[in-house]
Amino acid sequence: MNILMTGGTGLIGRALCKALLAEGHQLTVLSRQPATVPVICGDAVQALSSLDEWRSTQHFDAVINLAGAPIADAAWREARKQVLRGSRIGLTEKLVQRIACAAHKPTVLLSGSAVGYYGNRPDVELDEQSAAGADFAARLCADWENAALQVEGVRVCLLRTGLVLSAQGGLLGRMLLPFKLAMGARLGNGRQGMSWVHIDDYVAMVLRLLHDEQLSGPFNMTAPHPVSNAEFTRQLAQAIGRPAMFVMPGCFLRWLMGERAVLLLEGQRVLPVRMQAAGFKFSYPDLTGALSAVLAASKR
Ligand SMILES: NC(=O)c1ccc[n+]([C@@H]2O[C@H](COP(=O)([O-])OP(=O)(O)OC[C@H]3O[C@@H](n4cnc5c(N)ncnc54)[C@H](OP(=O)(O)O)[C@@H]3O)[C@@H](O)[C@H]2O)c1
Repeated sequence: MNILMTGGTGLIGRALCKALLAEGHQLTVLSRQPATVPVICGDAVQALSSLDEWRSTQHFDAVINLAGAPIADAAWREARKQVLRGSRIGLTEKLVQRIACAAHKPTVLLSGSAVGYYGNRPDVELDEQSAAGADFAARLCADWENAALQVEGVRVCLLRTGLVLSAQGGLLGRMLLPFKLAMGARLGNGRQGMSWVHIDDYVAMVLRLLHDEQLSGPFNMTAPHPVSNAEFTRQLAQAIGRPAMFVMPGCFLRWLMGERAVLLLEGQRVLPVRMQAAGFKFSYPDLTGALSAVLAASKR
């Protein structure tokens, strides 16, 4: 397949590029820094710096749309919210417009979203039928999904992504050092759900959605056993072999991070009901196995 990817230089994109190249596909990555694409994604990967460079003679069979400014990295002031929305919703709208003009339309669009779609739902288990939340992150996801759904005549899968566990970075990458220094802490009351997924399972799910023409619509891209933040903290500390005795008070995080603190203090328990109904088998269904695999990989 000839595949166009946005966000191909990111944590998930890099792992996906590797898997797609191994399957023998031709990849083109849209990036703000096109010179970095062959270095990060592989020598064989082409780069586009703008959708305007998508030539009329260039045919893509599939589009994977993962680009988005990091949601946790800066305070959610109005200008930052515009960047978060523009880099997801704005870019997806442009992608959909460009696909509409393509002489040879891709057969499938796999487009990003996140479990934040469901808002703060600590005590219930959620599937793909569950309603969207109403906070900023939930509206960001819902509008991102709606932008992708505007494409016509193309199979669309919406990737409601959970916390991706990888040795290469992401939230877990940032948590490792404090936990190794025995500074790991439960966040707030620790009841908030954490819907995690091992990067290898995530990539395998994306490949399944790419190839299986029967599958479309929203998919919870999470492992089948979400945990509370207290349980995640306990298991990570145990996997590292260091204590995590501290509690980071919610009021302190809210003071430090403002509205963005919801990313740490709120959560949801999301189940991958549709992937499992499609017969997908997880290599890492339980957090214990996923964490030990990631920690072993981080030592290599
Ligand atoms: N990792 C997770 O745990 C997780 C969980 C839920 C949802 N997600 C979502 O899944 C997607 C991929 O996640 P990831 O962890 O791979 O993200 P990442 O490592 O932060 O990479 C995102 C990519 O988006 C592009 N990007 C960043 N800022 C941009 C901007 N202002 N405008 C346009 N493009 C921009 C970058 O590509 P260039 O620099 O090459 O342009 C970057 O490689 C993201 O949209 C993220 O929100 C991730």
